[in-house]
Amino acid sequence: MTTTRDTRPGSTGGADTPGPLHSGPDEDYTPEQLAAMSREDLDRLGARYDGVEIVHVDPGPEPGSALEKRAVRQVGLTFTLAGVFALLFIVVYVGSGWFLPDWHWTITEGGWSALFTPLLGLFMGLALALFGIGLVLYTKKLLPHETAVQDKHDGSHFDRVTTGATLVGGYHNSGLGRRKLITRSLLFMGGGVGLMLLMPLGGLIKNPNKGNPLGTTSWAKGVRLVRDDGTPIRPGDQEPGSLETVFPAVPGGNRQPDAATMLIRLRPEQVESLSPREGQAGWAYGEYVAYSKICTHAGCPVSLYEQETSRILCPCHQSQFDVTQGAKPVFGPATRALPQLPIGVDGEGFFIARSDYHEAVGPTYWNRERI
Ligand code: FES
Repeated sequence: MTTTRDTRPGSTGGADTPGPLHSGPDEDYTPEQLAAMSREDLDRLGARYDGVEIVHVDPGPEPGSALEKRAVRQVGLTFTLAGVFALLFIVVYVGSGWFLPDWHWTITEGGWSALFTPLLGLFMGLALALFGIGLVLYTKKLLPHETAVQDKHDGSHFDRVTTGATLVGGYHNSGLGRRKLITRSLLFMGGGVGLMLLMPLGGLIKNPNKGNPLGTTSWAKGVRLVRDDGTPIRPGDQEPGSLETVFPAVPGGNRQPDAATMLIRLRPEQVESLSPREGQAGWAYGEYVAYSKICTHAGCPVSLYEQETSRILCPCHQSQFDVTQGAKPVFGPATRALPQLPIGVDGEGFFIARSDYHEAVGPTYWNRERI
C-alpha cells in the first residue's frame, strides 16, 4: 500500500478524493461520505490518519506470470498434501477397527495395533507440518510485501471503517479471489485438518472404560505370584524386612504395568503392629503383605523400602506409605493408600492371589469412584 498524497493537516476534507487532514476523522468525514468512497481510497485514507509510513513495497509476482503459476502450484500441492494426511489420520483413527485384519484396540507388540499410535502421530505431524510449510510458501512467494511504520491509537467509527477497508484490501492483495487452485486446496486442507483436530473428541462418545479395564488387572483368584523371570515364590524365600517385585503368572504378566506388585516380608515387630485398613483384615499371609507398586499420586513405581520405618517411598514426589498401616500415605502428595492384594498359598506351597485388587490401582482419575 502506498500513498503519494499530501498527508499534512489543514483541509476540511470529506470529498471523494481525500485532501489534507486537519482534525479528527469523524469530524472530517460523515458515515455517508465514507460509505461512498472506494476501498482503495478508504485504505489510503486510513493509512494517512494512522500515520503509516510505507518504507518499502514489493508487489509480488506479476498476475498470470510463469513465476506466479509455479508458486501457486507449489502452495496448492502443499495444502492438498496436508489435507490428504489429515484425512489419512481420520481414516486410521476411526477406521482401523473395520478394515484392518486382526485388529485389537489394545496395544499389542506386533501387527497393525502396534502401528496405531505411531501412524496417528505420523499423519497428524505431516498434516500440520505441510500446513505450516504451505502458509510460509504462500506468504513468501505470492503475497505483496511491504514494510510500514504505524502509530497506535484508540479506535473510532472512522477507524473501524478504514480498518475494514484495509482488511478487505489485504484479502484482495492476497490474490485468493483469483487464485482458485490455492483457494480450493486451502479449503480442502482446512476441512481435513479441522476434522483431524476434532476427531479425538470421538473418544468422548465411546466409553473407553467399557469392560472396566481401568478398574481391573490380570490378578485373579489362584493366579501365582512370580518374579520377573517367571519363577514362583514360596513363603520363606525372602528374608524378613525384604521386598520383592512380583507379577501375575499369566502370559505377558511381567509386561503389565498395572499388575506390578510388591511382596513384602515384615519383620516380627512389624507384624505385631500390623493394622490393616477396614475390611482388609486377613489379606496378608503370615508375615507377608502385597501392595500395588503403582503410586496413587501420579503413577510412578514405588520401590524404595525402608524397613526401619516401615515406609515405602515414591521417588517421584516423595510420597511415603506405611506398610504396617495398610500402606496409607503418611507423607507427600499422595492421598490414597496403595491398594492391597489379598494373598495365600496354593496346594504346592506357592504364593497365589486370592482375587484381583478390590480397587483401581494407580493415580486418581475423574470418575474413579464410579468404577
Ligand atoms: Fe509418587 Fe508423585 S508419583 S509421589
